[in-house]
Amino acid sequence: MNEKLLNTFTDKFGEGGNIRLFFAPGRVNLIGEHTDYNGGHVFPCALTIGTYAAVRARQDRIVRFYSMNFEEKGIIDIDLDKPLEYSKELDWVNYPAGIIWAFKERNLICPNGFDIVYLGTIPNGSGLSSSASIEVLTGYVLKSLFGFEVSNTDLALIGQFSENRFNGVNCGIMDQFAIAMGKKEHAIFLDTSTLDFEYVPVRLDGIRVVIGNTNKKRGLGDSKYNERRSECEKALELLQGACSIKTLGELDEKTFDGLSSVIGDPVLIRRAKHAVYENRRTVRAVEALNANDIRLFGELMNQSHVSLRDDYEVTGNELDTLVAEAWKQPGVIGARMTGAGFGGCTVSLVEEDRVDAFIENVGAAYKEKIGYAADFYVVDIGNGPEEL
Ligand code: GLA
Repeated sequence: MNEKLLNTFTDKFGEGGNIRLFFAPGRVNLIGEHTDYNGGHVFPCALTIGTYAAVRARQDRIVRFYSMNFEEKGIIDIDLDKPLEYSKELDWVNYPAGIIWAFKERNLICPNGFDIVYLGTIPNGSGLSSSASIEVLTGYVLKSLFGFEVSNTDLALIGQFSENRFNGVNCGIMDQFAIAMGKKEHAIFLDTSTLDFEYVPVRLDGIRVVIGNTNKKRGLGDSKYNERRSECEKALELLQGACSIKTLGELDEKTFDGLSSVIGDPVLIRRAKHAVYENRRTVRAVEALNANDIRLFGELMNQSHVSLRDDYEVTGNELDTLVAEAWKQPGVIGARMTGAGFGGCTVSLVEEDRVDAFIENVGAAYKEKIGYAADFYVVDIGNGPEEL
């Protein structure tokens, strides 16, 4: 990996100087979906797959970007002295450029440019946060090259800010936080209303985390994502007429059920219901894991998928098929979609000695029903960003 990256770096940008290598993970969310912009809890973990970068400082004010995942785009550069804004021509570089912009908004100004090559081992657009991984990685690179005093929580916030304000996706804090704060063999139980968090050991003796990629490219995903977010905001506003809450995450199921009629619109009721119930489910799931009750944890994962399918409506045929086939397999503790939805990936907990059969059976059924193949990755939980 490192050699491939270094070879490409010297090939594109020439030899010599101090070339430094960095890594930031991808993430998978175990439970707590579409709760992070509703003031609820999430329970993601960082993965050992992620994004690598080779970097060398320059004397001038130019930054040159190259990605081994988008070789056809060639080298894309920006001038630090010119105003930075989102543009179609920047293509994937909008993610790292957004970080440089967001640092500048915090008065953290890059004193000089650099050359950088990225290599991602997360499939793009799969819902394992390849973009947040690039964002946090770039922030970590800036911090390391220029000595900026920013904590890893800051890197997460800067990543989210740039995604919201530079790239126009109103995402919550989950992805960037999970990546910036990742810890080997632990998931992160994060309260998104306070950013208080707890590392929970994921002791999965004899159980593996298996990710299934629908290979359905998300097209309208981002606009649908923003739509869900504003539906929740509308529902919250209506509920605020009946009780004093700041976020949907403050409600429990019973209180919500008692109040929900003030929302009126049945679609908005279902959206808000998901946000409230999913948050409570996440809290219960973590309690179950802490009590070593992995079966209950799995059952709550399944319920999470049903809610995302029926109430939040962010799954679609591909994700539903992959999950329904997973549920049929022996040795499956729980399975659900993960991430924003509308395509992307599923996460399943599978007994180790059943994993091969699981991949084979679910893969065959998926191909038959959907017409093209899914991919599967048996993943490990890893650390946050680092210099290699
Ligand atoms: C995307 C967003 C996150 C979160 C999830 C859904 O991954 O980036 O902030 O909202 O969707 O849980």
